[in-house]
This record gives sequence, structure tokens and C-alpha cells, in this order.
Amino acid sequence: MTVPFGSDKVSPAMPDKRVYIKTFGCQMNVHDSERIGGLLRNEGYRLTDKPEEADMIIVNSCSIREKSEQKAYSDLGRFAALKREKPGLILGMAGCVAQQEGEKVLKRYRGLDLVFGSSNIENVPQMIETITLRSQPIVMVQEPPGPPRTTPAVRADRVRAWVSIMEGCNRRCAFCVVPTTRGRERSRPSADVVEEVSHLAEAGYKEITLLGQTVNSYSGAPGEGKDFADLLWMLDAVEGIERIRFTSPHPADMTEKLIETMAVLPKVCEYLHLPLQSGSDAVLSRMGRGYTMDGYRRIIDSLRRRVPEMAFSTDIIVGFPGETEDDFRMTLKAVGVIEFDNVYYFNYSPRKNTPAAGFEAQVPDEIKSERFQRLSGLEKAVAREKNRCLIGTKQEVLIEGRSKRDRSKFTGRTRSNKLVHFDGTESEIGHLIDVRITAASSTFLEAVRHRDTV
Ligand code: 5AD
Repeated sequence: MTVPFGSDKVSPAMPDKRVYIKTFGCQMNVHDSERIGGLLRNEGYRLTDKPEEADMIIVNSCSIREKSEQKAYSDLGRFAALKREKPGLILGMAGCVAQQEGEKVLKRYRGLDLVFGSSNIENVPQMIETITLRSQPIVMVQEPPGPPRTTPAVRADRVRAWVSIMEGCNRRCAFCVVPTTRGRERSRPSADVVEEVSHLAEAGYKEITLLGQTVNSYSGAPGEGKDFADLLWMLDAVEGIERIRFTSPHPADMTEKLIETMAVLPKVCEYLHLPLQSGSDAVLSRMGRGYTMDGYRRIIDSLRRRVPEMAFSTDIIVGFPGETEDDFRMTLKAVGVIEFDNVYYFNYSPRKNTPAAGFEAQVPDEIKSERFQRLSGLEKAVAREKNRCLIGTKQEVLIEGRSKRDRSKFTGRTRSNKLVHFDGTESEIGHLIDVRITAASSTFLEAVRHRDTV
């Protein structure tokens, strides 16, 4: 069952304990933290945003790149120091680094009570019970045979909700650590997903984002015979939900059926984040991505033909082993030709137990940084130009809350996932309104009420 935001009351009989959860990494990790929070609430814990007043601290780590791993370790060191002043504090590490390192993290950080992987979130209540009974640290990093089960969640947002539909990845991209941390693909039964989304709709949520490491290789429960497009059809029928998004799909699983489904279903938003990684076929092949630049373009063209206003974003890895200047130029060319609305780009970071870490011809850091800068300049220019084209158009936005930039303004996203700032009121949060775009930068739009202008 999903517990709506705002109802996180602890039974009066329970002691008032507080947990601070620090999250690194992807949306899946963000939602895993919401699930950890939900299970801990049932154990009498309330969330706090102040680590110094917490009775329990959990670092939910990410190992996708070296930097994210280091940040998690450095926080853990800081919290371990806090524990020396406050011995009763329960300190835990979750997420992909915990999954990968297991016992080794315990050796590195004395004072750590709990190490658990993402597949063991469901065991949180049992772990807490064991910890309170005996004061030995616990490590739980095994991969359960079944799909992730429905767990309660303390959701950070009142309007938009994450919904995990599958976990793990059966692909073997040469750069990626995920298959070794999240395990093989496991999909939730479609009925469980529909039930969770129906509860979210009843609780007032308007938008859902379906999550999975390769979300479009969703296959339902074993033997169910459902694919990702079938699931979208089932969810589009849930009353009260107005918008459906998903992340991250793999280009090799973008079937004709899925493209057609995205084009016809009214609630599926006109936005696709489709990781390209490189514009060079030679690099794509060494990465083991399973598509060519031509194949990728065909997906984009096919969607644009059916839905001209669709926006696209992507991930690019800069400086993959063996990437030449010519390869990199092909990536720049791809970004310009496809006209991505947004590009997320990362310097290649060698990861333990991945083939590419052992490839010869690693690209020197200076070259990675120089290419990174060039891509950054191009990406901003392309994004600004794409956003400028929207000036004067009417757009539907879902009001999310006050703008972080300017507290007098409100903020929301268009169906194409563009961030928009406009005038609003608290009571409108969660409503869909029409606006007219008046200004654009590379990262956000400004707008006025559409009715104000007619
Ligand atoms: N180095 C740099 N970037 C990586 N990504 C995944 N693995 C690595 C790595 N070893 C990027 C990819 C992926 C995104 C989530 O992170 O672009 O799509």
C-alpha cells in the first residue's frame, strides 16, 4: 500500500525517533530512499533534514561514477565522527556501493551498524529489530529471486510520484556498474503497478514517472506476457492520473509498438530521455550498446513524425576508452543534428568489474576535460535555441510549488518536461493550467497565465 504524503503520523504509543536519509544518484535511488523512509515510519521513525538531531542516519549511495562513490564515503566518515559523540546513533549505508562492497564497508568504517543493498530494502524492519536486540552490525546484500515488492513510501512530492516497475539490467554495457549492483532484470506484476498507481491517484497525485534501469524492457510477472507498451495502456486508463513519464529506456528496446503507443496515449507526455552515450558507431560498438547512430536517429525521426512537439534529452559519456577526436566530433554533430532539448554529459569514469576499465587507450583526463567543455558550450547553445522557439506558444503546466530561484514565483513543468516560472498561489499546487511562454534561457522558461493574454 502507498501512504500519501502528509499522513506520516507516528502512533502516539511509539517513541519519537528521527531518521536522516542522504541520497546520492539516480531517481531510482531517490525513490528507494522514499521506500526506506516509509518502512522506517512504520518502525516509529520520522524523517528529519538535520543529521545532528537524528537517531538514525542512512547514506543511500551511488556507484555509477567514482565521484559519487567518494561523496558517499566522505559523508559516511562525517557521520561516523558524529556517532563518536553520540554512541546511540544507528548508522547505515544503503544503495549500490553498499551492495557492491558489503562487509568491506564495515571494516572501513567502525561504528557502522547496517549495510544493505537496494534489493534488501524490504528487510529494513527485520534489520532494525535485530539491531536493537543485539549490538552486532548487520550486512544484507543478497539479491532476492523475485521482483521488487510493493512497500510503503514517504514521498517528498505531493503532485508527482515515482513508481518503480522493474529493477536490474540484463545488458552488459562495457562502462556500466549497474548489472553488478542491481542484478538481473525483475519486473513487478502489472496488477501491482496498476494498484499502486490507483492509490496514488486517490491520494491526489497527478503525474507518475515509471522507473527502471531499462524501464522499457519491462516484462510483467513471469508468464504474464505483458510488455512495457501494454503497461502504459493499463496505466493510461487510471482515472485521476493526468501525466505519465518514464526513465530510463534503452534505445535497443524502443519497439515500433512502443513508439506507436507513446504517440497515441493521451497521458504519456511528449518527452523522451533516451541515452545515446556516443555519436560514433565505433565507440557505440565498443561500449556494447547494441545500436548504431542510424538506428538511434530512426527512433527519434519516427517519434517526431508522429508527435512533432516531442522533446528529447540524452546522456553522453565523454572520453570512453579509445575515443578519438573524430569520434568525439561525431558526438558533437549528433547533438547538433538531433537538436536535443537537454544533454546530461559525464566524463568516463573507470568502474570496478566492468570490461571498459581494463580497455587499453584510456583517454587522459585533460582531453576528457577539454571535450567536456566543448560539449557543454554546444549543449547550452542548442538548449537555449530550442527553448527560444517556445516563446509565444501556449503550454500546459502542472503546478509543483514555489520556485527555488525566486520564492515569489511558482514553478511547474510542461508536458515536454521544461521547467517554467510564473505567478501563482499555494492553493493552485497540483493543478494544471495553461500559460504563454514569454522568455527562455537554456535551462528554464518564464510564462504568464494564458487567460491573462486573451
Ligand atoms: N562513467 C561515466 N558515465 C557513466 N554512466 C554510466 N556509467 C558511467 C561511467 N562508468 C552514465 C551514462 C548513463 C548515466 C546514468 O551515467 O551516460 O546513461
